[in-house]
Amino acid sequence: MTQPAPIPFNRPNGAHAAVLPDIDAAIRRVLDSGWYILGGEVEAFEAEFAAYHGVNYAVGVANGTDAIELALRAAGVGAGDEVITVAHTAVATVCAIDRAGAQPVLVDIDPQTYTLDPAAAEAAITPRTKAIVPVHLYGQPADMLALSEIAARHHLLLIEDCAQAHGARLNGRLVGTWGHLAAFSFYPTKNLGAVGDGGALITNDEGYALRLRRLRNYGQTSRYNHAERGINSRLDELQAAILRVKLPHLDAQNARRRQIARQYDAGLMGMVTIPLQRPGAESVYHLCVVRHPARDALRASLADAGIGTLIHYPIPIHLQPAYRDLGCAPGSLPATEQVSREIMSLPLYIGLSDAQAVRVIAAVRASVEALTS
Ligand SMILES: Cc1ncc(COP(=O)(O)O)c(C=O)c1O
Repeated sequence: MTQPAPIPFNRPNGAHAAVLPDIDAAIRRVLDSGWYILGGEVEAFEAEFAAYHGVNYAVGVANGTDAIELALRAAGVGAGDEVITVAHTAVATVCAIDRAGAQPVLVDIDPQTYTLDPAAAEAAITPRTKAIVPVHLYGQPADMLALSEIAARHHLLLIEDCAQAHGARLNGRLVGTWGHLAAFSFYPTKNLGAVGDGGALITNDEGYALRLRRLRNYGQTSRYNHAERGINSRLDELQAAILRVKLPHLDAQNARRRQIARQYDAGLMGMVTIPLQRPGAESVYHLCVVRHPARDALRASLADAGIGTLIHYPIPIHLQPAYRDLGCAPGSLPATEQVSREIMSLPLYIGLSDAQAVRVIAAVRASVEALTS
C-alpha cells in the first residue's frame, strides 16, 4: 500500500492560490513603475490597512521587530525605562525592546490562554516602567480589558504586539486598536504575509504617526534634512502591492483557520489540551498549539506518521543565554516554563484540507493512545 503524502507543518504559498493572477499583476505593476521603495503602493497599503482597522494612521516598516522598536522610540521610550512583556513569545518582542534601549521586564503568562497575566504585569510595575507590550500570541487576543485598565491607572503606554493576530477581535474590537500603538509583522507565514519581510504600525495619534514616518527613514523630515536619528526600516513597493492583494481576503482566510481549529477541537478533545479562547475573543489561530505531558514522544510519533509539527517556543526567553542578564532565574516564571515543556503546534494553514485535518487528528489520537497504553 502506498503511504499518504506527508503533511508539512506549514505551506505559506497556500494562501496565494486564489489570488495568483492578481499577485502577478501587482508585481508587474511595480516592476513597470520604476519606483521600488516608499511610493504609491506603500501609501495605498497604509491607507487600506488603517481603514481595515478603523484607525487614523498606518505606517509601513521593514519588519515586525522594527515595528515594535519604532513604536517604543516614537513614544519616547528608551534608556532608563522599563518595558513589561512576556518571556513566552517570539524572541523578536524582547529583541525590539532591547534595541530601543529600554530594559525588558519579563513576567509570566496565564497558562490557559498563553498570554500576558495582567496581575503579574501589575506586580512588576516600578517608578521606571513606561510601557506594557502584550503579545496576542498564536492569534489569541491578550486580556486587553484588564491591561487597558492597568495601563490607564498607572499612566503607562500600551503597545500591542499583533504579529500573530491580524484580524483577531476581543469583544468585537480588533486587536491593534486597544493600545496607543500596535505593531504588525508580515513575515510570510503570518495570517497576512508578504513574500519577504514586512511590517507596519497603526495608531490614532498624529504625533506618533509623523514621528514613525521620520524614524523609519533615517530621521528625515525632508530630503537630506534629519531632525533626529532614525534607522532604515522601509516597506518596499513589491511587498506593499502584494499585501494590498491579500488584505481583502484576510477575514475569509481567518474564518477558514477557525474552521480547521474547530475540527481539531472536536477531534482531539480529551487527547491533548486544546487551545482555550478567552471569553469574548475571536482568535485567528495563527497557530494551533496543543499540550501533552509526553510532548517529545508525541512529536516523534507524528513525524513517523508524516505529520510536521513545531514548538512555539521551546526555550523561554529568560532561559536563553542571550537574555540571562535580565535577572529572571530558572523557576521564576513557572507557567511559562511548564507550558514550554508541553506545547506543540499542529499544521494549520490556508490550503490544509479537511481531509488532511482528519488525518492529523487520527494520527494524534493513535499516537496518544499508543503512549498511554
Ligand atoms: C510575536 C511576534 N512578535 C514579533 C515578531 C517579529 O516580526 P518579524 O519577524 O517581522 O521581525 C514576530 C515574528 O516573528 C512574532 O511572532
